[in-house]
Amino acid sequence: MKKDFLDIKDLTKKDIVNILSRAKQLKELSSLNLDILKNKNVYFLFFEPSTRTKMSFLRAATLLGANCFDLETSKSSLTKGESLLETLVNLESLGADAFIIRIKEVGFLDLFSKKIKASIINAGEGKYRHPSQALLDLYTIWEECNYNFEKLKKLKVTIVGDIRNSRVARSLFKVFSKFEIETYIYGPSTYLLENFGIYNVKPLYSLKKVISISDIVILLRIQLERQNARKYFPSLKTYNQFYGFSLEKIKNINPNLKIMHPGPFNDGVEIESLLAYSKNSLIFKQVKNGVFVRAAILEKFLIKEA
Ligand code: CP
Repeated sequence: MKKDFLDIKDLTKKDIVNILSRAKQLKELSSLNLDILKNKNVYFLFFEPSTRTKMSFLRAATLLGANCFDLETSKSSLTKGESLLETLVNLESLGADAFIIRIKEVGFLDLFSKKIKASIINAGEGKYRHPSQALLDLYTIWEECNYNFEKLKKLKVTIVGDIRNSRVARSLFKVFSKFEIETYIYGPSTYLLENFGIYNVKPLYSLKKVISISDIVILLRIQLERQNARKYFPSLKTYNQFYGFSLEKIKNINPNLKIMHPGPFNDGVEIESLLAYSKNSLIFKQVKNGVFVRAAILEKFLIKEA
């Protein structure tokens, strides 16, 4: 059994079914105060900002009884020139059983996986991978399908926005393909991947078409902090006009359309807050489900027999 969760491809379809089913069991428990991870030491190393991922992994690990430690990376000996690998080796000497890491650089996690005995859990890696987000998104969709995996094959899901720079989109493509979900992409041509064909997804070219054919739309955040977003489209207002979603835009074409977003969202850019807080929105269910899906992930990778 693998000790690290770096990529969706670390899991078979059966593994994913088991993780989602376990997450459902955990969600249905009236109180979650378990000792599955009792005496396990889980270290958090986040080199990029996070609210949802960090807090839900923290809550998941705590609910399972783990001891959690947050390395304040900007105040650690990394600032004195110690390498990240040396840091992990030292934390392992302090008893670390797992590292939950968010990092900008791509490929470091694969290296750590070879050098470190503790589990490495990917909590978001540059533009490349965010596998726990993809699993909690799949869980939320499965929940909408009354927990019927067969129904997933009948869905049309469109991922909208900054696909080129999105680790969430890349991980979703992999997980959706395992479950044969018909997947489309839509966004400014500057935001689409040139090689999207390898992911088995199809492009759409009008907002009206996206709204009319999709059962679920997953909106991606314009990552204003990662690049000068304006070089990809003329203005935020123009982006909102052609690619942004609102209750007004969907009400006459597909009033039952479900909207997801990994968060945080830019209100008035890719989504208007009235829609984000409406009955069409699954956004806060995604956040809630994140705790149980991440608990199931921790159980699988930290407990050998899980
Ligand atoms: N979805 C997500 O990764 O959110 P955070 O950046 O807040 O963790």
